[in-house]
Amino acid sequence: MTEQHQHVYPVREEFAANAWIDNEKYLAMYQQSVDDPQSFWAEQARRLDWVKPPNQIKNVSFASNNVDIRWFEDGELNACANCLDRHLETRGEQPAIIWEGDEPSDSKTLTYRELHEGTSRLANALKSLGVKKGDTVTLYMPMIPEAAMAMLACARIGAIHSVVFGGFSPDALAQRVVDAQSKLVITADESVRGGKQVPLKDNVDSALTREGTEVVDNVLVVKRTGGDIDWHDGRDIWYHEVVDKQSNDCPAEPMNAEDPLFVLYTSGSTGKPKGLKHTTGGYLLHAAMTHQYVFDYKDGEVYWCSADVGWVTGHSYIVYGPLANGATTLMFEGVPSYPTHGRLGEIIDKHQVSILYTSPTAVRALMAHGDHVMDSSSRKSLRLLGSVGEPINPEAWEWFYRVIGNEQCPIVDTWWQTETGGIMISPLPGAIDLKPGSATRPFFGVRPALVDNEGHILEGATDGNLVILDSWPGQARSIWNNHERFVQTYFSTYEGMYFTGDGCRRDEDGYYWITGRVDDVLNVSGHRMGTAEIESSLVAHDAVAEAAVVGYPHDIKGQGIYIYVTLTDGVEPSDDLKKELTQWVRKDIGPIASPDVIQWADGLPKTRSGKIMRRILRKIAANEVDGLGDTSTLADPSVVEDLIENRVNC
Ligand code: WTA
Repeated sequence: MTEQHQHVYPVREEFAANAWIDNEKYLAMYQQSVDDPQSFWAEQARRLDWVKPPNQIKNVSFASNNVDIRWFEDGELNACANCLDRHLETRGEQPAIIWEGDEPSDSKTLTYRELHEGTSRLANALKSLGVKKGDTVTLYMPMIPEAAMAMLACARIGAIHSVVFGGFSPDALAQRVVDAQSKLVITADESVRGGKQVPLKDNVDSALTREGTEVVDNVLVVKRTGGDIDWHDGRDIWYHEVVDKQSNDCPAEPMNAEDPLFVLYTSGSTGKPKGLKHTTGGYLLHAAMTHQYVFDYKDGEVYWCSADVGWVTGHSYIVYGPLANGATTLMFEGVPSYPTHGRLGEIIDKHQVSILYTSPTAVRALMAHGDHVMDSSSRKSLRLLGSVGEPINPEAWEWFYRVIGNEQCPIVDTWWQTETGGIMISPLPGAIDLKPGSATRPFFGVRPALVDNEGHILEGATDGNLVILDSWPGQARSIWNNHERFVQTYFSTYEGMYFTGDGCRRDEDGYYWITGRVDDVLNVSGHRMGTAEIESSLVAHDAVAEAAVVGYPHDIKGQGIYIYVTLTDGVEPSDDLKKELTQWVRKDIGPIASPDVIQWADGLPKTRSGKIMRRILRKIAANEVDGLGDTSTLADPSVVEDLIENRVNC
């Protein structure tokens, strides 16, 4: 896809002149960061406010028999105090969060002082409910300021938050509550997105009927809509009733740099979602530093990351990074298509947004409606654009640049993962010339490499599996309660290296082009999903004997979900059954896992040892049936012809 798009957008001189980092500085700092990480990070760590500054900087082993990652391990700090308290003196009255509600008439601003007060009250409320340092709290919340306050309040008292995206089903929520053993769940009566209500509290109620969830003592409920909800006396508590009566004085708990700050569940190629464990010092440093340099953030600017706090992007780039930098962060409750497709631009004009960080899916969805969707706004305040979550195809990049950015704004295409905590590969806008579709060059301290399937490091312009050779401060330290799985997933494929699961190309200029996952993880509209999760949901249905799930190229979502289903003997295929299976998966995992295509399959292509050959299923789904490659290892080649014949057009 890249060859025909070698258009380069050089750094503009005026941009570089005012940027935090120009090319010369990037090269010098990058070199120092990899030559002498100890002194580089010792110096960078000073951007945080430490209760006890660290003397020990980096202590890391990537050896598969001893994966052990520590940064600043003798330092002490509090993440919430870094995000709030230290700004009070200089910018107490400055907006910290600008909240834009689902309805355009609904918005409000919280200054740093207000955010600090609200967070301190909530932190005291958590304490009064028995939440202690080291406890986990599950957040299942709308995009409202209380979500940020809940994260920060946990951090303030040393509790560990686990945010579950509001689009997940009760079962998915229950699984995460049980795995993290949360005693408290914070939610709202309902969330509102695109004019529709989502019954968050109802979902919590049904989640808490599942086995293992007895661990939950209390549910704290924010009144967002005032909608009708059930109430469980003794368990459920109104947020305002307990928070309003608290004192706004709550000292921040000094935490060790390696104490967990949060756990965040994400999908892998096998098994259930895993809770990535992020710790306090390194994570916060990485989030803050990347937020400043990648977005070239300047004091007083309004910065908008359109992600949801349920994903890592929301953690690092709505909450922790911007607030640690004393920035004004915009939080949007709704969707870019409501009430009209002009909304995104209108929000930019309304709040004079300088920096917009969004996803390729959002860009493509707007692009599909044509240039005129931006007619209702000027977007003159914009200075920089960012993209995250999936590869951005050059056509979408160009549209983003030309139509949304009025050809005035560099685009930072930022590659990273839940596991990496913060941005890893991305242009620094004053330093690196842009190529549409490329995440370009590594951030400070990040040492990417490409390896072949045997783990040999490949040099020069080439394709390969993307690995990272050494640790960086924001790296996840483990999988919650399962360090072995952490080692197995990330450090056992290639000895001594962190394996990202992504494929990548490096061009002759040393630019990185992420080509997508090389494992069985799907990326649908920027949402990560394991094919195994969807398959195990399907086979739990009586009508399904076997199921295989693959991704296929989708114009707007990036990838769509294509499902092959073999029915149980005696069950007749029908459109109604397709609908039923679709509902089944939505209910089991959540609407984001909704199948796009279901194909009935009498059999699935398998090797003689019984392994499903997904490579072939992916090709058929993508309608690339001429390039099926080697099919000689198939147990029964006629299965493939049958599948091709019955392929569903998509
Ligand atoms: C993909 C989101 C190409 C990639 C921050 C990665 C990207 C997965 C990009 C992580 C990008 C993210 N270009 N691909 N700029 N950013 N990805 O954990 O496949 O939700 O492994 O973190 O998204 O998804 P996650």
